Amino acid sequence: MNLSTITLHVPEQSKIAGRLDFVMMVSGALLILFLWAHLLLVSSVVLSPVIMNALAHFFEATYMAQVGGPAIFVVMLIHFILAARKMPFEQGQWKAFVAHSRMMRHKDTTLWLVQVVSAIIILVLASAHVFTVLSDLPITAAKSAARIQNGSWLPIYLVLLPMAEMHVGIGFYRIGIKYGLISSARRAWYQRAEVIMMAGFITIGLITLARFKWLSI
Ligand code: HEM
Repeated sequence: MNLSTITLHVPEQSKIAGRLDFVMMVSGALLILFLWAHLLLVSSVVLSPVIMNALAHFFEATYMAQVGGPAIFVVMLIHFILAARKMPFEQGQWKAFVAHSRMMRHKDTTLWLVQVVSAIIILVLASAHVFTVLSDLPITAAKSAARIQNGSWLPIYLVLLPMAEMHVGIGFYRIGIKYGLISSARRAWYQRAEVIMMAGFITIGLITLARFKWLSI
């Protein structure tokens, strides 16, 4: 290959990589919005199971659950596949990455490591969750409570909830850094704000799970 071919191909490749990064960011932003909405909608059970049932009925009557649910799952897959381009899957790559992250003690590198691990856990657990809920429509507070009281779903949610909220919180922060929305002078402030937001969402999720656990069915 001569030099002129290389100079033609490299910008072309980085243009494609830039576009894929952009799609990854947009799919990530969609998932962030979905997860915040999902958490608040499910938490309606804390106010009353009647409210949760009415909201679920609305989403099913308008086919938003039947169409939107699988659509969100596809967005999640696309997001994961695009992120997987950069994940250190081979053993050698993984070891080098962890060693590099330890040596650098760089907060943003460690955050990326947390993103990789949580992404893999979320992919497995959320796939099982989405399949279970959508293959047992209609959604009702009583059915959700039964899953949490009788089955093995409570421990799964206790892992999925912090993983998903952490992933979303860090993702939100990283989008801000990458697209220049957070200046380096404001990084520490945003990191603190993110931690407070994550803790808030995890608390809402835990209260929701407690409500399901002790709901009489
Ligand atoms: C795409 C369609 C989805 C639907 C229709 C849905 C619906 C539900 C419902 C009805 C519950 C109550 C518990 C139950 O019924 O078992 C629930 C809980 C939960 N879901 Fe989803 N879900 C979806 C996607 C997701 C995704 C993608 C995630 C995470 C990435 C997720 C994370 C959770 C968590 C952590 C809980 C526990 C309760 C809470 O913390 O609010 N869900 N979901």
